[in-house]
Amino acid sequence: MTGTLQLLTISATVALSAYYGPLFLSILIPRLQVHIPIPVLSTPPAAPAEHSCPQHAYTAQLISLNPLLILIHNFIPPSERADIIAAGTPLLIQSPVTGSGNGDSPSQARTSHSAPLPPDDKAVSCVLGRAASFLGTLLLPGRDEMGPAQMVRYTPGQKFDPHHDWFKRPRITDEDAAVGRRRLYNRVATLFVVLQADNVTQGSGETWFPLIKPIEGGGGSGGGGGEGEVLWREHEDGGLAFKPIPGNALFWVNLLPNGTGDARTLHAGLPVEGGIKVGMNIWPRRFFGPDA
Ligand SMILES: *[C@@H]1O[C@H](CO)[C@@H](O)[C@H](O)[C@H]1NC(C)=O
Ligand SMILES: *[C@@H]1O[C@H](CO)[C@@H](O)[C@H](O)[C@H]1NC(C)=O
Repeated sequence: MTGTLQLLTISATVALSAYYGPLFLSILIPRLQVHIPIPVLSTPPAAPAEHSCPQHAYTAQLISLNPLLILIHNFIPPSERADIIAAGTPLLIQSPVTGSGNGDSPSQARTSHSAPLPPDDKAVSCVLGRAASFLGTLLLPGRDEMGPAQMVRYTPGQKFDPHHDWFKRPRITDEDAAVGRRRLYNRVATLFVVLQADNVTQGSGETWFPLIKPIEGGGGSGGGGGEGEVLWREHEDGGLAFKPIPGNALFWVNLLPNGTGDARTLHAGLPVEGGIKVGMNIWPRRFFGPDA
């Protein structure tokens, strides 16, 4: 009987804390010991939206501390990957290049196709929620935003030459410009997730960081994906190149502590020789200046 009571207490505690958070839990714990609210257990309140997202199953590996670069395994599970590709594919257009100073126009430096991902799509919103949780204290609530997500597709011969994701000059969003709000933003970090890598020719279509060095220097090829699979290698022109593995993500921080762009985050989408590579870009925004 005591065992059953404890079990009930634990399940009640878990259920309630999942819904109301730790504050409620700390108030409730002493009472749960003597009065178990069975009705709450049998008729749980409607769960917040994020509870219908799959429980995350990713693992992470440090690649570089300064600048920070993390390789995340299985950030997006297969069913969500398929849903995101389905949502983005009809919206694909020739990729614009932002922050180049020449406006947003197609260019020879970025030959892929890309699509804005609808934030109200369930899979997209689950991934954005997961990303927000991963970012922890990087974003200041009430000031910073996740920003819109983008899908990008590379077919044979397509690439994105070395570039930075941060803007040389911080920007004003179109929405802010429309209402005269003066706050500025820059892309504080990047989360690039591989959604698909079908028949991609071995040694092509990698994400290459020419200026990133492994934390302990030499021996820059490695794995960790199981079965001894090599996930990154030392590139012949310096830095590290990461193999496109569906579900895997690269996370890095674009801005230095004083808010200027970190030149060492230079990276490229190397040409896909054969096959198809589809990725998802998430560029969380840090806001500053007047009206931020
Ligand atoms: C990959 O190759 C297989 C076998 O040749 C083929 O059936 C499949 O359609 C290819 N996938 C893509 C996306 O090209
Ligand atoms: C920001 O910090 C970096 C690295 O410490 C430095 O090189 C750069 O000049 C700084 N920029 C400004 C505007 O203070």
